[in-house]
Amino acid sequence: METTVDHDGAGSNGAAATSPIDIPGAEIVEALSRALELHDYRRGLFAETEAHGVRVTRLALRLTERVAPELAADPALAFGFQLHDIGMIGVSDSILSKRSGLTRDEVDEVREHPLLGERIVAPVACLAGIARQVIGAHHERWNGSGYPRRLERQRIPLPARIFAIADVYDVMTNDQPYRSALAPEVALAEIEQGAGLLFDPELVPVFLAMIEAADAAI
Ligand SMILES: [Fe+2]
Repeated sequence: METTVDHDGAGSNGAAATSPIDIPGAEIVEALSRALELHDYRRGLFAETEAHGVRVTRLALRLTERVAPELAADPALAFGFQLHDIGMIGVSDSILSKRSGLTRDEVDEVREHPLLGERIVAPVACLAGIARQVIGAHHERWNGSGYPRRLERQRIPLPARIFAIADVYDVMTNDQPYRSALAPEVALAEIEQGAGLLFDPELVPVFLAMIEAADAAI
């Protein structure tokens, strides 16, 4: 029997357009990741953002396993780390192609990307939690100097506090368009100085010990 399609796209065989669809979260994340990859590829950003995404996800998960193993067991957490910058899709190309010298308005637009990302991912029920706890909060800082909500201390969700340290370390220890990679010791010293200011002071020593132990094992 042939199924006809209504004007709103729902089949006339009884399947309503609003019926829940059982799609595993991993498939949705894969689709969103591909959208971000395509966006970055078209703008010449692909190599740096893809590698950063893989490294920072791995690093943030390692820290989570040490400080909150119950969180690390939830696969949605890795998805949140992986998709942290999905909101960059909504930032103007003219801004993304600039390497420096952003105007105040342009900085404000870039700073919208956590909320844009949260809005993109939040409708997926199994990812709604991480949309708020990682994607929407990954630029918040311990002393309230971050964005977009200027959250302070424990008001910042723990996954975002974890991610912030891993993110900064990875950015500092890899080449950027505006400077060469810093030595791990230099990056760790900066993170240590930021304990209690930018970063959760209880997480920083765990992160330092984790990196130092890994270096000693090489
Ligand atoms: Fe970001």
